[in-house]
Formats: sequence, structure tokens, C-alpha cells
Amino acid sequence: MKKMKKFYITTPLYYVNASPHVGHAYTSIIADCMARFKRFSGKEVFFLTGTDEHGEKIKKAAESAAMAEGDFIDSKVEIFKQLWKTLGVSYDFFIRTTWDEHKTVAREAISKLKEKGDIYKAGYKAFYCVPCEAFWTETQIKETGGCPDCRRSVEIIEEENYFFKLSSYQEWLIEYLSRNPEFIRPQTRYNEVLSFLSNNKLEDLCISRPKKRVSWGIDFPGDAEYVVYVWFDALLNYISACGYAHDEKKFNSLWPADIHFMAKDILRHHAVFWPIMLKALGIELPKVIFAHGWWNFEGEKMSKSRGNVVNPFDIVNTLGGYLSGQKDIASDALRYFLLREIPLGLDGNFSWKALTNRINSDLANDLGNLVFRVLNMAEKYFEGKVLPLSKDIPASFKKPIDKLCKEYELLMGEADFSVSLEKIFAFIGVMNKFIEDTKPWVLWKEKKIDEIKNFLYALLEGIRIASIYLWPVMPSTAESIFRQLGLSRESLILSVCDWGKQKEFTIKKDFPLFPRIEVK
Ligand code: ME8
Repeated sequence: MKKMKKFYITTPLYYVNASPHVGHAYTSIIADCMARFKRFSGKEVFFLTGTDEHGEKIKKAAESAAMAEGDFIDSKVEIFKQLWKTLGVSYDFFIRTTWDEHKTVAREAISKLKEKGDIYKAGYKAFYCVPCEAFWTETQIKETGGCPDCRRSVEIIEEENYFFKLSSYQEWLIEYLSRNPEFIRPQTRYNEVLSFLSNNKLEDLCISRPKKRVSWGIDFPGDAEYVVYVWFDALLNYISACGYAHDEKKFNSLWPADIHFMAKDILRHHAVFWPIMLKALGIELPKVIFAHGWWNFEGEKMSKSRGNVVNPFDIVNTLGGYLSGQKDIASDALRYFLLREIPLGLDGNFSWKALTNRINSDLANDLGNLVFRVLNMAEKYFEGKVLPLSKDIPASFKKPIDKLCKEYELLMGEADFSVSLEKIFAFIGVMNKFIEDTKPWVLWKEKKIDEIKNFLYALLEGIRIASIYLWPVMPSTAESIFRQLGLSRESLILSVCDWGKQKEFTIKKDFPLFPRIEVK
């Protein structure tokens, strides 16, 4: 029997010139949420992340830290890995572009393109931004008077370099995009790329840097005077990580990637350079390029080069302080905020106020309160053991649960996490209202014991189902709820989320999940 191809998900390879901020955390959380969703739907997943370790700005950052490049990079890689652990980012492989296998693959790919005649050497004059490692034309820098991306000053550079014939593939790419409108998502980004390609002539891409100027990179095949342009090297990670040119069996079981996640800042690299590189190499294209929006901080673009970044470790530590020291639950709160606050294609504005408002209203008032009240009642009325007489679904649950069941997989599969969460929380709202409407304390006084049993069963079953749906976004929270419901971790999977699958509950109450955060 033919083995099913693994679902292959990637994040960008983050630069290691500085430590990660909440923007990097956002992409990795998105990718993780998709990986978890696929895994608990029964698919095998290969989730790739890693670090981009070549180029002048990394060398300069190492120099400023008075460290050797290798030591500096290793120290930054540890911070990225620590962050992914803290945030529950469950990657399967971490690639570093200084990995020997990757360097060999990059060199082989370039040699192949050279042999094919897709790479040539020529003289070159342009404006160069060192922090962005990007060349700009005179027209491009005119508007800002500097680098269009980071606004810093640019240097004029005149030298010989190697060029990749992007221009030869422009028509092919336009054609490909026209036939594959799902290739770039969301739709606005697809339109943007197609319109850019239709209205501009693609310039060939300069893919080398002379060593006398940039020494920290992969040696350019066949010319010891040059290193490979960092972007050309980095993009190739998506195939070197899964075995291209060194582990054919692995490569065939993983490629093409199912989804490359990134923000809109590097969409063109992924939606123009990358497909053309693959086409030229004779390799199948990935299925989807997904460019999400940008997080600003207090209205300003957040970026390492501007120094106004939000440190995700600080967020988790601070929130952990409020949440009885439960750092995994604090990390879930950040994951929830980032995924719930804005639909995936739009920009967002990060602020502590928005974060604490979200946590207090959704996680403390709605979810935390619901779980706490229901578990309390189960303990108070039945010493934690809830055995119902009837497992009927309450009338008010039916519609929201049916809707959730029907839409959840579609929304999650489309990476529409915000709407999916909105719907789960709408159901949580229905459960809270059910408590208010039923008034169990009155039933208790009236000694309607069977009614309370059925009522509590319905709520516990509802919480069980909501927790399953929440797991890809808030894994530690869902696992904690499951423990408190007396259920095994193994039963936290999508296939058992039908109503009535759990016959009874034996509660093991722990401390409240989301106390309110009082900000002075
Ligand atoms: O570009 N909002 O690395 P990088 C949302 N090495 N996402 C953000 C963000 C923000 N404010 N800031 C960063 C590179 N990101 C290259 C990539 S891939 C072969 C090479 C996220 O460290 C987002 O995913 O600058 C963005 O595309 C990426 O980090 C840029 O990371």
C-alpha cells in the first residue's frame, strides 16, 4: 500500500542577528496550530522551522557582541529553540542554514542552474542596504531617500556578480498563477503578486556577493571569490530540510510542501523568486504560499532594526505571574490572543491593554468561569462523579454544536483560526447562559437530583467537546481541562468529539485556569 504523503508545513527561517519578538512568535504559532490541527485529525505532519544564519548583518551582529560568528549564532539559536519550547511550538525539524547538508544542497542547486544556463556573470551598479541585504534601484530609493524597507541610508555598490535569470520565467509564472488562484493566499496577496508581475518587468536576481565585501556565506560553486546571496541560500532550505539531493526517499515522501507560512514582508521572495527557482530546477511547486499580516506595536512597525520589539518571553513571564505561575497556560493565553485578535491576512496592533482585555473577557469571564463553576457544582453536588440518566443534548446546545461540527474542520483547514475561535467561544457563551437559565441552585433546593445530573452531564460533555476544538490553539489549557474532567490525554482527538461519546465523568479539580488579570 502506498504511504500517504506527510502534510508539510514551514515557517520562514528567522535571522539570528537578534532575538525573536512577538512577530516571529506569531508565524510559528500559526504554523504550530495548523500542524496540531492536522495531527489530531489523523494526518502525519512534517513541521519545519529554523534559522537563517548567513549574510553580512549576522556577521556584524556577532562583531558587535564581540563573539565569533559560530558562537554568536549558536547562542541565538538556543533562544529561538527555548522560545518554541515555551510557546509549545511542536516542530519536527529545525534547520540551520550553516548545516553542512544544506550548504551542499545549495551549492548543487546553483551548479545545476549554472549548467542549465540560468545563471550568468555580469557587471552591476546599485544601491545596497546592509541591514536588509537588499539591492535597490535609483527609483526605488527616491521616495524615502534610503532603503524602502528600513529607511536607513544605502551604499552605492559597483561590482561583478552572478545573476539568476528570473526574467526568463516571468511569463511562465504569470501563466501559472492564472491557472492556480489558490497558490497564494489570502486572495488580496494573490492579486497583489499577479498585478506586480503583470505591470513590471522582472529584473534578473543578483545571487552572489563578493567575499571582499560579504564573507559570511556559502562559497559560490566554481568561484572562490564569491559567496551565495543569503536569500538564495535560505529559500533552498525548504527542499534541503526534507532530503533534496541527499535523501531521495525522504524527499519523495515530503515534497511538495503543503503550506509555507510567512508575513507579507517576504511574500515576493516566496511567491516570485522561490517558484521560479523550483521551476528552473525542475522541481514541483509547493501547494500554498500563505502571507499573513503584520503586527505593529503602538501603531509603529515592529522590527529588530527599529528596536521597538515586544519580547514574547516577557509576555509569558508577566502573564505567568498573574496565572498562578502556570507558564504553559500563560503561553496559551498569548497564542489565543494572537490567533483570535485578527483574521490571518490582516494587520494587528499589539498592546498590553488589548492582550489583558482579551484574556479577561474571553478566557477568565467566559471559559475559566464556566469550567470553574461546572467542576465546583460536580464536586459539591455529587462528589465529582457525574453519571447522567439521560445523555440528551439540551435544545439550546444543538444548533451551535451542529454548526461548530460542520464548520470547524473547514475553518481550521483554511487557517481561519480567528473565526473558528469565535464560534467555539459562542458555544461557551451558550453554556454559560444555560447555567443562568437553568438555575441549578434552585433545582438543588427543590431536590431535583436527576435533573441536575443531566444538566451537569450536558455541561461537562459540552466542555469536553469545546476543549477538543480548542486544543490546536491552546494545547496546555485543553489538556488541563481534560485532566480535571478525569479524561486521558489520548482522547484529546478530533474523531471523538461527537456528543455523547463520554458516558460519565469523574472530576479531579485543580486550581482555576484563568483568574482575572487586574492591571494597575
Ligand atoms: O525575513 N508581524 O527573516 P526575519 C508579523 N530570514 N510577523 C512578523 C513580524 C511582525 N511584526 N516580524 C517578523 C527573514 N515576523 C528571512 C526569511 S525564509 C527562507 C528567510 C515574522 O527574521 C514573519 O513571518 O526577518 C516574517 O515574514 C518573518 O518573521 C521575517 O523574519
